[in-house]
Amino acid sequence: MLKPKRVLVVYGTRPEAVKLLGVVDALGPQARTLHSGQHYSPELASEFEGALGLRAPDRQLDVGGTTRGEQIGGATIGIEAELRREAVDALIVQGDTNTALAGALAANAAGVALVHVEAGLRSFDRAMPEEHNRVVVDHLSDLCAAPTETSRANLAAEGIAGDDRVVVTGNTVVEAVQRLAPPAAETASILAARSLTADSFVLATFHRPENVDDPEVLATILRELAALPLPVVLPLHPRTEQRARAAGLGDLLAQVRIEPPAGYRCFLGLMARSAFAVSDSGGVQEESSVVKRPVIVVRRSTERPEVLGTFCELVPAGARIGEVARQWLDDLPGLHAKLATIDTPYGDGLASQRIVDAVERMIG
Ligand code: UD1
Ligand code: UDP
Repeated sequence: MLKPKRVLVVYGTRPEAVKLLGVVDALGPQARTLHSGQHYSPELASEFEGALGLRAPDRQLDVGGTTRGEQIGGATIGIEAELRREAVDALIVQGDTNTALAGALAANAAGVALVHVEAGLRSFDRAMPEEHNRVVVDHLSDLCAAPTETSRANLAAEGIAGDDRVVVTGNTVVEAVQRLAPPAAETASILAARSLTADSFVLATFHRPENVDDPEVLATILRELAALPLPVVLPLHPRTEQRARAAGLGDLLAQVRIEPPAGYRCFLGLMARSAFAVSDSGGVQEESSVVKRPVIVVRRSTERPEVLGTFCELVPAGARIGEVARQWLDDLPGLHAKLATIDTPYGDGLASQRIVDAVERMIG
């Protein structure tokens, strides 16, 4: 009798949990899961098994809150040990985090086939740790699941090509939103609990080093947000909170409505009924095209060019947030109506199954 196949799915942060949910489900009993512990604060990490419904990991590591090198090193050691303890046929990582890089290095060290979900994204910004992580992971991968043709072309430009190695699947975020976006009544209570009116508030979230590690940039963003003519809800990533407090920007934080990180369902509900969002998040750029709300992307570059000029506008260092907001607010119903007619470039909500089909073809 054939031995059943085993696939280790490695994750460690909020976006990885969101985007691997459907893959773990589609793998069914073949899946083993390992959580690196990169995100560990309860308001981020308890979400994984709570609102997201990911099952408790088969193996838990504890690499959170350390330096990048310690995180990558510690997780690589832990994941390699797990691969040597229990044989698997393939290892899956997602995105561009330190955890994804560690998973890739461990698979390579242990001679296990590596699968990269969300392969081929490029910001071409070498100051971002994520750009280095994703490039290395793609080059180590035996199977790259590229969300779009743009990402496939990025891979091809680096010599990563061939039907056996690259498959265009769509992005698994689409099915995450379809599965977890709250129904209208739940969204209405999410808004009511905050005394918000639909289409009359702004949802903001940011955590990238380029925005929060430089106190001047962080102050600029917070000032621009505070000056917007609508209430601004800002669920604070722990990194942002720590950097803002350390930079003495508590007064500016007090001028917007700060909250702990929002649960995923709640976040999607808020986003879908916001006037617009302001964010440096990768996932939020993609989700904008599914919930049909525009996003001011506070970044100097983006690895998601598919949504630029439609759902997203790039605003480096935050200085033009107010200017873009004013343009959008001139005819917000018109903008929302236009976006409602544009399909998401990230696929049809079947990416997870396509990825699992490709993994099964690879491991036979
Ligand atoms: C990481 C990813 C980033 C992703 C983000 C998702 C890397 C290089 N970056 O960034 O691509 O967009 O996750 O949110 O992997 N902290 C806490 N509690 C936590 C997690 C972090 O307090 O649960 C604080 C700690 O001070 C920590 C800092 O945030 O040192 C940075 O955390 P880290 O996991 O290294 O990176 P993120 O900024 O979360
Ligand atoms: N998100 C959330 N609660 C929040 C902020 C974001 O659930 O308070 C979700 C968001 O919808 C997206 C994911 O977290 O799916 C993105 O995570 P993050 O911005 O931390 O990482 P990135 O996508 O930038 O790597």
